[in-house]
Amino acid sequence: MSDRLRIALQKKGRLADDSFALLKACGLRFAIRGGGLLARVKNMPIDLLLVRDDDIPSFVSNDAADIGIVGENVLVEEQLTGELDATIAMRLGFSRCRLCLAAPDGGTVKSKTDLSGTRIATTYPGVTRRFLSDSGIDAKLVEMKGAVELAPSIGVAESICDLVSSGATLEANGLSAFETILKSEAVLIRSSRELSAAKTELLDKLLRRIEGVIKSSE
Ligand code: PRP
Ligand code: ZN
Ligand code: MG
Repeated sequence: MSDRLRIALQKKGRLADDSFALLKACGLRFAIRGGGLLARVKNMPIDLLLVRDDDIPSFVSNDAADIGIVGENVLVEEQLTGELDATIAMRLGFSRCRLCLAAPDGGTVKSKTDLSGTRIATTYPGVTRRFLSDSGIDAKLVEMKGAVELAPSIGVAESICDLVSSGATLEANGLSAFETILKSEAVLIRSSRELSAAKTELLDKLLRRIEGVIKSSE
C-alpha cells in the first residue's frame, strides 16, 4: 500500500459532516465533491475514503483503510456479527445517540418485560440479540435495512430497536422509547496491524491534533 494514510469516513449524513469539520479543524485541506468517493488531502499524505458507515469497520479490519471514523453503534454491531480486527483508538464525543427499544404509544409493549413472544424490527440484530439474551427474553427479530420506525404501524413487529438522536423520528411515528440498550458516540478506530514508521508518525500527529480540537471545544 502507498505511504499515504487512508481514513475511511461516512460519505454523507450527520456523522460525515462532523467528521469533515473535525479533520478541517485539525488543519487538513481537502474538498469533498458530489459523487467523488476518494478525496486527497492537499497539505498532508492522507487520503479520505468516502463510504457507507456500515462498511467502515470491515474496511479498517481488512486493510482497505488504516483508520476510520464511525459511530460506536456501527462498530459494536459489526464486532458482534462478524470477525473484526478493529477497536477504538479514540472517543470523539460528537454524534452522540442511543440505541433504544421503542413501541407505539398506548400499545401492548410498555417495557422489556412485555417483549417475550413478540417481534422486534431492527437494523441492529447483533446488539439487539445480545440485549435479549443478557435479559433472558425470547423474542423474534425482524431485520430491516432502514425505515424501521414504520414497522409497528404496518404490522410487521410490535416494537423496534433503532437509533435515537433528537427523538423527532420516534415522535413523528407515534413511538416512545422504553429502554436504552447502547449509548454511542463517534469513535476513531484502527486495527492491530503495525503501520509503517511514516504512517505511525503521521497518525500520532493527527491524534494529538484531534485531542487538541476536542479539548478546545469543551
Ligand atoms: C437515524 C436512525 C433514526 C433517526 C433518529 O436514521 O435510524 O431513524 O436517525 O434520529 P432522530 O432521533 O434525531 O430523529 P438516519 O436517517 O440518520 O440513518 P439510517 O438511514 O442509517 O437509518
Ligand atoms: Zn447506516
Ligand atoms: Mg433511520
